[in-house]
Amino acid sequence: MAREKKYNAVITGLGMYFPEKIYDNKYFESIIDTNDEWILTRTGIKERRILENGATSDLATNAALDLMQRHNVSAEEIDCIIIATVTPDMLFPATACLVQNRIGAVNAWGFDLEAACSGFLFAFQTGCALVESGQYKKVLVIGADKMSSIVDYTDRNNCILFGDGGAALLLEPSEDYNLGLQDFILRIDGAGEGALHMKGGGSLNPPTHETVDKKMHYLYQDGKAVFKVAVKGMADVSYELMQKNNLKSEDIAYLVPHQANLRIIDATAQRMGLSKEKVMINIDRYGNTTAATIPSCLAEYYRAGKLKKGDKIILSAFGAGYTWGATYVVWAID
Ligand code: UT7
Repeated sequence: MAREKKYNAVITGLGMYFPEKIYDNKYFESIIDTNDEWILTRTGIKERRILENGATSDLATNAALDLMQRHNVSAEEIDCIIIATVTPDMLFPATACLVQNRIGAVNAWGFDLEAACSGFLFAFQTGCALVESGQYKKVLVIGADKMSSIVDYTDRNNCILFGDGGAALLLEPSEDYNLGLQDFILRIDGAGEGALHMKGGGSLNPPTHETVDKKMHYLYQDGKAVFKVAVKGMADVSYELMQKNNLKSEDIAYLVPHQANLRIIDATAQRMGLSKEKVMINIDRYGNTTAATIPSCLAEYYRAGKLKKGDKIILSAFGAGYTWGATYVVWAID
């Protein structure tokens, strides 16, 4: 479908925040039946960051402040704040409201968006549409999750996978249609509900002593089932987006994949014909931070001087729902 737009939305700022506390694989050896070699070879994860005190709004606020400082953005200029998260501070008010107040974005509106591990891609697309319409000039899109708040640290299948973190991107309009968001394919399939979810705490199973006793307030995942569909879903959609835009492997500077499992990332890169150097990775140091994986990769590679204006990049994710998709962006910062 052709998009009606007045401008292209471009990324003009990046910020990130990871808490200091580290859970390395050795730590998990001391609390569950596992070992460093199993975790590393099956997932690619060496360590993750854990927020001991505070909530998702702290991760998001710190990421936003980092962006504002580095890129000289004042709080009053921000028009809208979109936060992708599955671990909001509370069911309501939206974490976006808490962050708006904390950073002093007195002219902004905003909201939370929930699409699990694809949350950042969905929020990014939404933010771009607001900018492309010409209605807003500065939209802050944040991916932040305190996964440690919904992980059962006695469940060895899942607790080793996740970490806490936040990252933010600023979107602004550009009249150069060759920069910024070029195209996207986003999908959902609710048939995936049973394989990855959190049963308790919502309107289906409001919290009771029983729901807590049954551990329904923790993330549940059938890892093997999700792995199979994630490998296919992420690789297929990324390849489809390449085909749709006549992109060859050599045209692409980077794949920016959701960081759930290095084996899923490798399969996607292989399908796209990309060598390892063209794949952004930070899963080894942070694990799966859900909505924060893609923007934090971008922030790290940008800071390391690895991105240049004109670079063609593909963002790609798969997560609970199921939700998945791929987004084609041309880097706009010099
Ligand atoms: O981001 C949202 C989307 N989520 C994902 O993309 C995650 C998708 N799934 C995965 O990444 C992988 O399925 C896991 C990393 C979760 C598991 O890897 P796997 O290669 O699929 O392992 P498995 O589930 O087939 O388990 C293999 C064995 C099992 O033992 P048996 O049944 O073969 O005796 C597990 O019990 O490994 C065992 N195992 C462990 N062993 C040591 C499971 N967890 C652990 C552990 N340490 N932490």
